[in-house]
Amino acid sequence: MRPSVILGIESSCDETAAALVRSDGRVLAHRLLGQEAAHAPFGGVVPEIAARAHVEALEPLIVAALRDAGMALAEVDAIAATAGPGLIGGVMVGLVTGKAMAHAAGKPFVAVNHLEGHALSPRLSDPDLAFPYLLLLVSGGHCQLLLVQGVGRYRRLATTIDDAAGEAFDKTAKLLGLGFPGGPAVERAAARGNPAAVPLPRPLKGSAEPHFSFAGLKSAVARAAGQHSPEDLAASFQAAVIDCLIDRTTRALARAGGVNALVVAGGVAANGAVRAALATLAQAHGLRFVAPPLWLCTDNAAMIAWAGAERFAQGLTDPLDTPARPRWPLDPEAEAVRGAGVKA
Ligand code: KG4
Ligand code: ZN
Repeated sequence: MRPSVILGIESSCDETAAALVRSDGRVLAHRLLGQEAAHAPFGGVVPEIAARAHVEALEPLIVAALRDAGMALAEVDAIAATAGPGLIGGVMVGLVTGKAMAHAAGKPFVAVNHLEGHALSPRLSDPDLAFPYLLLLVSGGHCQLLLVQGVGRYRRLATTIDDAAGEAFDKTAKLLGLGFPGGPAVERAAARGNPAAVPLPRPLKGSAEPHFSFAGLKSAVARAAGQHSPEDLAASFQAAVIDCLIDRTTRALARAGGVNALVVAGGVAANGAVRAALATLAQAHGLRFVAPPLWLCTDNAAMIAWAGAERFAQGLTDPLDTPARPRWPLDPEAEAVRGAGVKA
């Protein structure tokens, strides 16, 4: 059977992206425009600036992706766009564009949950990765442990009761004056510091439920700032985050039952020390460790096209009146966590 080709669109945060991905896992084109420079003066993503930037960037990126792949829109089999969760203004830009293109070209439309894009992205980079697997999803907006049982079948084992891991990296970077985006800046500074220099807490470490908490850690960094070098603070902070991630993931592995692999995805999965610690954990449990390449960890449209391809292959398409959803949990059955805010 001829593989199908999916056009994917991503605009839920501060990356505008378009990609063409084949159902056999071949990435035909992927284009991305980050907005770091526009948000840097504010030390974080400003929703209104993001939405306007998506409007300007998206169409040229789609045109460029089609040109890179040497394809016309008529040759695409389906169009997939992120429908949430994320910043509503940005989500609407990509979603409306995708739906309009699907309508104009008479193509099926697939509404993709951004988190499902992250969750399935390891199967794009590793075609041998079979369900079920335990996924640590660590990004700027989310920190979850998910049992991935199949396309559209996710059981959330844990989430954060306050900040996401990437958010903690970003806030720590801001506090230490390391710039934005914070994750890569903290990782670079940490490489030159001593991870044992600053005693920092490991929130929720050892607790029975595998949930996460990072707000207290960030406050502890704030209190210690000024008494230590930014490098030592960054290294100690990163070590504390990794300690928590490993402890919580170990707990979730015990709950997950038999899985085929330990998988990490989301922007924080781009961190080399995080990846190394998880690889060691997987090895200790006799599990395969799968982490997508760095460009596929941070937000991109190839993962949206791929999730679209996985859904399309199962006949899962969506009507053109599908709404944008600022919140959209992957596991709607998951219980609200005591102490947690309103995050999905
Ligand atoms: O998945 P992503 O691109 O966007 C969201 O959906 O949130 O994740 C972005 C997050 C940011 O918080 C960023 O600081 C973090 O991932 N990040 C990192 C690294 N690269 C990106 N965190 C730690 N180390 C990194 N190398
Ligand atoms: Zn993301």
